[in-house]
Amino acid sequence: MTYEVTPWTVKGNVDYDALTEKFGTQKIDENLLERIKKHTGDLHHFLRRKIFFSHRDLNFLLDEYEKGNKFFLYTGRAPSGKVHLGHLIPWMFTKWLQDKFDVELFFQFPDEEKFLFKENLSFEDTEKALYDNMTDVIAVGFNPEKTHFLIDTKHANLMYKEACKVAKKITLSTAKATFGFTDENNIGEIFYTAMQAVPSFLPSVIYNKKIPCLIPCAIDQDPHFRLARDVLPKLNFYKPSVIHSIFLPGLKGMEEQGKMSSSEEQTAIFTTDNEKTVRKKIMKYAFSGGQATVEEHRKKGGNPDIDVSYQWLVFFEEDDEKLHKIYEDYRSGALLTGELKEILTDKLNGYLRTHRERREKAGDLMDKFIFKP
Ligand code: TRP
Repeated sequence: MTYEVTPWTVKGNVDYDALTEKFGTQKIDENLLERIKKHTGDLHHFLRRKIFFSHRDLNFLLDEYEKGNKFFLYTGRAPSGKVHLGHLIPWMFTKWLQDKFDVELFFQFPDEEKFLFKENLSFEDTEKALYDNMTDVIAVGFNPEKTHFLIDTKHANLMYKEACKVAKKITLSTAKATFGFTDENNIGEIFYTAMQAVPSFLPSVIYNKKIPCLIPCAIDQDPHFRLARDVLPKLNFYKPSVIHSIFLPGLKGMEEQGKMSSSEEQTAIFTTDNEKTVRKKIMKYAFSGGQATVEEHRKKGGNPDIDVSYQWLVFFEEDDEKLHKIYEDYRSGALLTGELKEILTDKLNGYLRTHRERREKAGDLMDKFIFKP
């Protein structure tokens, strides 16, 4: 069973235990969950279900928080194409953190990243994607008073000097070892990680004091922050803390195709897909753990552990009891694959209806979200 996880590719059935070992991150254990719960009152289902499962230095962050030294949140999205459900996972969780801890969020749109890394993408393309993607981020419901968009090419005057300070501390051989770069990579790709480091300390520069930072992201982004954590203390800033999620699988499942990906339109669900499209994609493509015939399914039951519709409900059905019942009913054969797919379709269409309503109003809020130093 082979798999690959880099900031640019996620393929195969990821062994998350092995990955945390390889990356050198910590699993989130019960003690840490209890500690978080002391501040948040309840635990987001992403924490209860280990969808956010790994971290770096969360205890340091909470130590500081308990001393009255509030952190800020930082996450991001490289504009290119449409936003799909997989992208929303870290953002939904970031919103929850923002609400519970009542903290500022810096949201980076590195609009040069995909330009540098993708063969056929122009700055006209990324510019279009930028506005489209910003409306999706606003639709997640972040607090407009406390959320600040940083757009690399628009905030270059603010960010470039800081990126240079980072870049000066990273050798080419470190960049090669961390990201697997070769002599064939362009030099923009090599510099890019310095730009992704900047928001993790920019508020400390702006407010002229050391402020702790927490970065919620999918675990593929960790290599960037591993480097940032090496460099920042040398520049007299705190190392950023990181909290990592697993990936939302594509409709065909991790084994077959890996995480949900925009380049595979049929097996991804986009925020702009209408109800019919959502239904069609699920019915046609969602990998099923059910039996070949209804008769056999009733007799032997299905396997929710490999069933993508069930796995998606683990992400999107917040109610533990409901989820548990679906699990048991599918296992026993009482619930058929078609019925499970209907449950998922309804759940997602309900979520997306609200998202699309907010998305339509997002344009009016955009200016408020863009960071004004
Ligand atoms: N590299 C990310 C992407 O490909 C974008 C990004 C920038 C990001 N800063 C981040 C993601 C911080 C998570 C956290 O979309």
